[in-house]
Amino acid sequence: MNEADENRLVSGKNEDDQEASIEKSLRPTTLAQYIGQERVKHALSVYIKATKQREESLDHVLLYGPPGLGKTTLAMVIANEMGVHIRTTSGPAIEKPGDLVALLNELQPGDILFIDEVHRLPKIVEEMLYSAMEDFFVDIVVGQGPTAHPIHFPLPPFTLIGATTRAGLLSAPLRDRFGIDAHMSYYSIEDLTEIVQRSADIFSTEITPEGAHEIASRSRGTPRIANRLLKRIRDFMEVSEKTTIDEEIVSQALQFLRVDKQGLDEIDNKILKTMITYYNGGPVGLGTIAANIGEEAETVAEVYEPYLMQIGYLNRTPRGRVVTVKGYEHLGIDPNQSKN
Ligand SMILES: Nc1ncnc2c1ncn2[C@@H]1O[C@H](COP(=O)(O)OP(=O)(O)OP(=O)(O)O)[C@@H](O)[C@H]1O
Ligand SMILES: [Mg+2]
Repeated sequence: MNEADENRLVSGKNEDDQEASIEKSLRPTTLAQYIGQERVKHALSVYIKATKQREESLDHVLLYGPPGLGKTTLAMVIANEMGVHIRTTSGPAIEKPGDLVALLNELQPGDILFIDEVHRLPKIVEEMLYSAMEDFFVDIVVGQGPTAHPIHFPLPPFTLIGATTRAGLLSAPLRDRFGIDAHMSYYSIEDLTEIVQRSADIFSTEITPEGAHEIASRSRGTPRIANRLLKRIRDFMEVSEKTTIDEEIVSQALQFLRVDKQGLDEIDNKILKTMITYYNGGPVGLGTIAANIGEEAETVAEVYEPYLMQIGYLNRTPRGRVVTVKGYEHLGIDPNQSKN
């Protein structure tokens, strides 16, 4: 989507194929190994157990939350726990009804179809999914003109797992057909510390508890970012005299990589600084902020703002964006002095 987000160290999005293959090696495979998201995990473990006892297919699951929080990982974990196959695809990849029928036709009873970016399914495909999800059949029209007629096509019982970063973009009829709603939230520093420790273990890299904690606190609540920072810091450690990642190496490396104590990068900080210096901390229109830092308004709204708002440094008001007292404090600026 946004060029600005590519190659950004603190972006929650997946960067490239190399990162994807490292992620695979770091993926937990069971619910017990999956760290954090306790409420989601607990609910899923109950549904999985009950479904297995009844020897049915699991109800359809909707996973939603920001990029890099472990939606794809969780879908794989569910398949593993259910002991079924999983077929993965994405909304934009299913262009026409025939593509969907082909995918569904390959499933064995109980199998999972995982559709990433499920909010981006073409409308005509989405409509076909309704009967597939509800009653396990699709009606396909064959032939053309006067000879056109529908064929009733029964499907094996299956589970659809849909993932989306924006639940608000999902149409109501599609949303209603998911029996299980799993809202993923940002991870606590404690959970991320555990994830960093587990990943370091898999990399056979030594790390101190303080080092792991420091990486965790700069990872914006996101496992993908934690793993990415760990990997970069490990490179730093390897060319230094040290054999263990400690707090000092983490601080040095992240200073060099310009990721600050809260996990903000230069652009995040520039947004706050510009708003304070030139606009008294706001309210400032989105377009003005974007012009000041040389980005598209959409990029600012989708890439930079969400985390600044999540940690309470920025607020959206009807008249524009404002920097909060916390935001001022982060930059070491006294909010009262600058407002005079
Ligand atoms: N709960 C977790 N415990 C341990 N590692 C995790 C956990 N959640 C995610 N990860 C790690 O974070 C990485 C990113 O996870 P994943 O690809 O599942 O995110 P995603 O939500 O599907 O992202 P996107 O929105 O980009 O599709 C994976 O390498 C995975 O190992
Ligand atoms: Mg994913």
